[in-house]
Amino acid sequence: MMQAMLRERVAEALAQHRPGFSLPQALYVDDDMHRADLEAVFETDWLFACNVAEIKQPGDYITLEIGPNSVVVLRDRDGQVRAFHNTCRHRGSRICLEEKGRANRLVCPYHQWVYELDGKLLNARQMPQGFDVSQYHLKPAKVEVICGLVYISIAEDPPSLARFRAAISPYIAPHQPDRTKVAYQCTIVEEANWKLVIENNRECYHCAGNHPELLVSLIEFALPDDPRATATFQDIMGRAAAKWDRLGLPHRPADGGNEFRCIRLPFNEGAVSFTMDGKPACNKLLGDLTEPDLGSVRMFRVPNNWNHFLADHIIHFRVLPLSANRTAVKTTWLVHEDAVEGVDYDVKRLTEVWIATNDQDRRLAENNHLGVRSKAYEPGPYAPSEFMLNNFSDWYMRKMAAYCGVEARHLTAAE
Ligand code: FES
Ligand SMILES: [Fe+2]
Repeated sequence: MMQAMLRERVAEALAQHRPGFSLPQALYVDDDMHRADLEAVFETDWLFACNVAEIKQPGDYITLEIGPNSVVVLRDRDGQVRAFHNTCRHRGSRICLEEKGRANRLVCPYHQWVYELDGKLLNARQMPQGFDVSQYHLKPAKVEVICGLVYISIAEDPPSLARFRAAISPYIAPHQPDRTKVAYQCTIVEEANWKLVIENNRECYHCAGNHPELLVSLIEFALPDDPRATATFQDIMGRAAAKWDRLGLPHRPADGGNEFRCIRLPFNEGAVSFTMDGKPACNKLLGDLTEPDLGSVRMFRVPNNWNHFLADHIIHFRVLPLSANRTAVKTTWLVHEDAVEGVDYDVKRLTEVWIATNDQDRRLAENNHLGVRSKAYEPGPYAPSEFMLNNFSDWYMRKMAAYCGVEARHLTAAE
């Protein structure tokens, strides 16, 4: 479909959106709308890629797919994190074929053009004398590292991350995400549109009916002053807040608007970690922490990432769309870089709550997607506890409106 026609179709779908309601069907299921999502969102914004712990040594790399665009994120010889389009400057072959690895130099598997870790073309064998290698360096992607979290962008001119960086750093820096190691990592593919995956993450309305393992530790209220909060929660929250104030740990919700959220919230009485019994998952606490019960910093940023930062471990979730109806969700569990498996932590104990929870969430998103495909589907109203869905749909509608060149009018429930 021509670009102009696509934009027109997207604009039509946007016009059907009713603030405070789930999105029109086409935006979840239509292949053309999905192409628009890639162009309007994933090719213009910052995306969470990995933790620096995943690329510790020079030459360590990971790859990720942003629609058709493969990107390699690596540590160069000087220890700097860099990102490049994973497309050879000869005839375009993909260069790094694995999801992660270590390379002394990047060598294209097709005709063996050789690139330095800073992206420079070093050697193009059999090319004629006088061939100017300097014209064929790898195309760079933008990189920002925030307390060890690597965000990349393939946009020419991505939005500033300054506000995000300034707001979240005081919350997550005490957990020292950059002094960790990967304890476990897994990717699941959900047969659902990426927006349904994100929306499911933005509300805990579904938690009570679906997440018995998670609710051992997690309290479903998302705000310290949640109007539905019970006296028990208020009591736990009050004591936790007093302790965090004493320790100098920020906890009140950061002002992230529609872009991000960052808050520290307590666990259930007696629980300190995401384990089946609520007891710690790793005996060696992160960074220089000494207090095992710090609740969790819950941080997310649109479009593709949410995280939990606890006293004993960190979990990153990375979402990447594969097609209109398939989404890859990668989960990474990190512990202190000196923690020893079998001594300080047990992988099963560390991961079983969120492996179960992810699977439950996968089924919820898949069932949601199946239902949305029906001719009976029409957008339905958000509950008050789904307030973060308003933030998400508002952000999304604005992104798409900018893409179509139409005015973002009457998009939010508040307006
Ligand atoms: S396409 Fe990479 S060397 Fe030919
Ligand atoms: Fe869930």
